[in-house]
Amino acid sequence: MTLTRRAALGLFVTGGAAVAYGGYSWSQSRGPVSEPQPLKIPPLDTGRVVGGVRNFDLTLGMDKTRFFKDLDTPTYGINGSYLGPTVKFKAGEDVRLNVRNMIGEASTLHWHGLHIPASADGGPHQVIETGASWQPTFTVKQRAGTFWYHSHMLNRTGFQVYHGLAGLIFVEDEQGTNLGLPQDYGVDDIPLVIQDRRFTRGGSFDYNLSMSDGMMGVQGNTLLVNGTVNPYFEARTDTVRLRLLNGSNARIYAFGFSDDRSFYQISSDGGLLEAPLETRSIVLAPGERADILVDVSDGKSVRLQSTTPSQTRTMGGGMMSFFMGDQTDFNVLEIRPDGSRKRAIILPETLVDLQTPDPTGSVRTRVFSLGMGMMMGGGVMTVNGRPMDINRIDEVVKAGTQEIWTIQNPTMLPHPFHIHDVQFRILDRNGALPPVAERGLKDTVLVHPREQVRLLLQFSDYTDPNSPYMYHCHNLEHEDAGMMGQFTVVA
Ligand code: C2O
Ligand code: CU
Ligand code: CU
Repeated sequence: MTLTRRAALGLFVTGGAAVAYGGYSWSQSRGPVSEPQPLKIPPLDTGRVVGGVRNFDLTLGMDKTRFFKDLDTPTYGINGSYLGPTVKFKAGEDVRLNVRNMIGEASTLHWHGLHIPASADGGPHQVIETGASWQPTFTVKQRAGTFWYHSHMLNRTGFQVYHGLAGLIFVEDEQGTNLGLPQDYGVDDIPLVIQDRRFTRGGSFDYNLSMSDGMMGVQGNTLLVNGTVNPYFEARTDTVRLRLLNGSNARIYAFGFSDDRSFYQISSDGGLLEAPLETRSIVLAPGERADILVDVSDGKSVRLQSTTPSQTRTMGGGMMSFFMGDQTDFNVLEIRPDGSRKRAIILPETLVDLQTPDPTGSVRTRVFSLGMGMMMGGGVMTVNGRPMDINRIDEVVKAGTQEIWTIQNPTMLPHPFHIHDVQFRILDRNGALPPVAERGLKDTVLVHPREQVRLLLQFSDYTDPNSPYMYHCHNLEHEDAGMMGQFTVVA
């Protein structure tokens, strides 16, 4: 093999031999190819306050999106053709979401990461029939952080999210706002919804579940960032905050910069870390978020890139996938520092105070073992040997208690395990303390093959014996195939 890794990457970057096809070109390995485009920033929606409640209108619709020149892709969107606005909540306030479903099939909208009543959660029980509306109201009981919303329709989540039913939620609080971090939306505070997609020759999203898609989850060869292909961003400040959301159905990314510069991770799923963490690489599985700060004061263009972390590659990875045209390396975003930049910010030494997780006083330990059964014509995905049943409550927990949940992965694939209602803490991975990057608030945790991860959960308020919360694999094809269960919180 004389092809060096650098040469291979170069080939990926240009998309190999691209053939002109009408107004766009087509690459054997990449699909349609695009010139660099300015990064799209989702509109910021701060709602309108009526009688002390902040109201947001979110309409799920069907449309076409032009990701490539002269190529229309049928998509779903929220108040737009693809994805939705970034909605901004303030900690402590009451909000009402007016969700209207115009996509022509039943759907739901779930507020991922928020601690809210189960009946307002937007999971598979809060179905919005086609043409109907749903108006959940709740109090924002979060710390400052980056959350998101997406379809959670039973057995259809993968399809609906793939076509565009997702968007970001920013929660602000006073403490976070006073830290002096970049927070000028779209200027130095940049949302990045990162999703891999595969296109057909006709321009549609290619969401046909092959046997391997069903097992691995649907992974694409084209990266969309806020719905932009091959994006660049012109930085007008020396410090840029990137809010990374892995909004992909199944792909796990390791992010880093093209010149291997270090950057600071300042948050995990549920909000700020105790202190900025200097690093060169960050791994995010589907559903996970992290805010990072990158210094571009050297004025040089730099690319945020991603690879597939080696420990999560399976038989589909490596050189094998290179020859089969299965991409594992991507350019995420080119940052072009502008000539007239503002000075870099002064990074605070500490961000928030988080208690050290203390498992003493936990009332019980529950074990969740993930399973993948192979059957002709598809897989059956399970938790504790059972696929999801909407009519079965799997676990009942008591409000006001602390529990340990042990997630076991005896399968050959990694699974990002997500729990509704709570922000948990990771106690250990196979008995060892988690890396510093994972010691903050989490709602999704990647569990590797043959790994056992122990989580500490505090259940507080919002008891409802009739409305369950979900826990599930956030590989959306695994979730749709049954790797999900339900729990209620009771008094
Ligand atoms: Cu992001 Cu149950 O979902
Ligand atoms: Cu969720
Ligand atoms: Cu999974």
